[in-house]
Amino acid sequence: MADVTLKNVRKSFGTFTALENLDIEIRSGEFVALLGPSGCGKSTTLRMLAGLEFPSAGEISIDGRVVNDVAPGKRDIAMVFQSYALYPHMTVGQNIAYPLRKRGVPKDERAAAVQKAAELLQLEPLLDRKPAQLSGGQQQRVALGRALVREPKVFLLDEPLSNLDAKLRSYMRAELIELHRRLGKTMVYVTHDQLEAMTMADRIAVMHGGRLQQFDTPDAVYNRPANRFVASFIGTPSMNQIEGTLAGDTFTRGAMTVPLDRARFAAEDGPCVMGVRPEAVTIGTGHVAATIRLVENTGHELIVSLALEDGTRLLSRVEAGRRLSIGQTVQITFEPDAIHLFAPEDDGARLNTDEDASVIPMRSH
Ligand SMILES: Nc1ncnc2c1ncn2[C@@H]1O[C@H](COP(=O)(O)OP(=O)(O)OP(=O)(O)O)[C@@H](O)[C@H]1O
Ligand SMILES: [Mg+2]
Repeated sequence: MADVTLKNVRKSFGTFTALENLDIEIRSGEFVALLGPSGCGKSTTLRMLAGLEFPSAGEISIDGRVVNDVAPGKRDIAMVFQSYALYPHMTVGQNIAYPLRKRGVPKDERAAAVQKAAELLQLEPLLDRKPAQLSGGQQQRVALGRALVREPKVFLLDEPLSNLDAKLRSYMRAELIELHRRLGKTMVYVTHDQLEAMTMADRIAVMHGGRLQQFDTPDAVYNRPANRFVASFIGTPSMNQIEGTLAGDTFTRGAMTVPLDRARFAAEDGPCVMGVRPEAVTIGTGHVAATIRLVENTGHELIVSLALEDGTRLLSRVEAGRRLSIGQTVQITFEPDAIHLFAPEDDGARLNTDEDASVIPMRSH
């Protein structure tokens, strides 16, 4: 059952259209990430779900009820903002209890709810401290606790981990996944960090310029990106995209000719873009010559920057320990099953026909 639905939603601010044709159906209990670059409309979408902004057109429903005109307090949602805005003069316990106190919940019940949230978030030893005496991650957990005690149907989280350092982020990421698993509540999670979306979400809504680009599982957005934008936005480093020409059983660019199985693509001869992820560019054998320009050692792998004869730059990911030197000329291969073709426009659609052939296991980071 759909729990949260946006139907053909548009949002304009004056003459500026921030969101258009937005269609998203979120299932009950699902963890959905809204992912996209700065300004693409993620927070605006979330604020409309929360009732803090109203759609200019279209329909928003929560739990089968149209909520376009329903006030935030009556939507059975809890929102955690990027800046978690705790009350500095209140203790952790009072901060967590605040939404219940405002609602007139009796003291005993409040204490029990705070205790439960504190256990879940491992905040028990900190209940009497003030926010200023907490680390960023602890403050973050208090903000989550404050949302939790309301026991809403839907959690809305706007970049809740963005103020944390890398180590704490990855810790809190795991905590949130675990929390979602235990609570089974619907969560809508805004982030511009694709790793966060990939690791946490059941499905990812990839947005760009106020439009939904693709709404699918992490596996699908990675292995079957709908268009060039999704292909370049998902994955680190980005998918290589090479402009060239499709002719018969080959893709060509300058002196480079790559054989293709045309049955895998619904594309006509002519200009197109070949996409290959760095892990599918292998160095050592092959029919394309390239020069090594840069080798970055991340510890567990090497990111190799290559230049084709005409200067086109490519990235390859290879296992650590390979002996590669800058200036060296090597032969490279594009793994045939991992080749994507896209229409040549900036937002060109993916032209592969098969659903699964390009699936390659994603490596951990
Ligand atoms: N109240 C407003 N008035 C005018 N324009 C607005 C308003 N709120 C948002 N916008 C514009 O709408 C667009 C989407 O903004 P939004 O805050 O949703 O982006 P975002 O995807 O959350 O970006 P970020 O990752 O930077 O937080 C932006 O171009 C922004 O400038
Ligand atoms: Mg935002």
